[in-house]
Amino acid sequence: MSQKDTIILGIESSCDDTSAAILKNETILSNIIATQDVHKLYGGVVPELASRAHQQNIVPVVDQALKSAGISFKEIDAIAFTRGPGLLGSLVVGTSFSKAFSLALDIPMLDVNHMHGHVLAHFIDEEGKDKPEFPFLCLTVSGGHTQIVLVKDYLEMEVVGTTIDDAAGEAFDKTAKILGFPYPGGPLIDKYAKEGDSSKFVFSKPNMDGYDFSFSGFKTSVLYFIQKQEKLNSDFIKDNLADLCASIQKSIIDILFVKLIKASNDFGIKQIAIAGGVSANSGLRTELNRIGVLKKWKTFIPKFEFCTDNAAMIAITGKYMYDKKMFADQTISASSRMKI
Ligand code: KG4
Ligand code: ZN
Repeated sequence: MSQKDTIILGIESSCDDTSAAILKNETILSNIIATQDVHKLYGGVVPELASRAHQQNIVPVVDQALKSAGISFKEIDAIAFTRGPGLLGSLVVGTSFSKAFSLALDIPMLDVNHMHGHVLAHFIDEEGKDKPEFPFLCLTVSGGHTQIVLVKDYLEMEVVGTTIDDAAGEAFDKTAKILGFPYPGGPLIDKYAKEGDSSKFVFSKPNMDGYDFSFSGFKTSVLYFIQKQEKLNSDFIKDNLADLCASIQKSIIDILFVKLIKASNDFGIKQIAIAGGVSANSGLRTELNRIGVLKKWKTFIPKFEFCTDNAAMIAITGKYMYDKKMFADQTISASSRMKI
């Protein structure tokens, strides 16, 4: 007799994307993401506005996820939601929705760590794609986090390196702001970098111990360099946009890879994955493949829609928690600083 399918509804609301996904075993049937354009006006995410937008979006997003998966309420076995880390006001919306949903349908609730989600996105079924084997290293790079994670098992992970100041995504977004791009500028740097010469400008790189990262010195060096050049040529940014983007992107990628290579050598691990919003960066993907060939790594890059914040990664993490009966109860609350 075949085993019963497990259907999980995933909910993600940690920052400025409201997302709902339906997972059947390890296959995603739908992954709906409502992004919030309102923040573009302010050059960054405004927590109060994010929270309000989640409240408006969450019911329609869940409704659409169910419809496009062709699944009814009654078929859902459990609801998995992001408990943290993230913006408290945003997390509270997904957490409260999930508590009410769980109570109304009398199904279990799974409180997922968002950072586990980014890593476990690699285990969503994708045709023709291998999944990592344990132990592997995952470079998780997003707007809020930059971590090298030693992944020992689905729910057993250790952060071996982290940023002491800005995250890699912030390094992209803040330097993009200096160039005059709207928020979030990371994807725009990626776009213009494709036409530029990455060796044209050199910016300062940190000298950190161990596997930790720092981006604040780099960001300041970009700012001071541009301010100096603009005194000589007020059109400096416009005249050099592609080369600036390519050089900035290369610096960020170099900072990341120095530590990733060191961790791989020291831990003797050659299965290397990337995750998080910044892993959508085409330069980072190309560099992972290039270094992977040189170092004989087996590399894992998630599908684009599973890189940036999404509920599919929350649903797959919930599935592994469901298998272990790691259920939350109605006293659970959002945790903005939740640790891996
Ligand atoms: O994982 P994510 O969607 O949200 C957080 O949990 O933070 O990551 C968002 C970050 C933003 O900083 C955004 O600029 C960056 O990912 N990002 C990129 C690219 N796509 C998204 N950075 C560089 N190149 C990209 N193509
Ligand atoms: Zn994220």
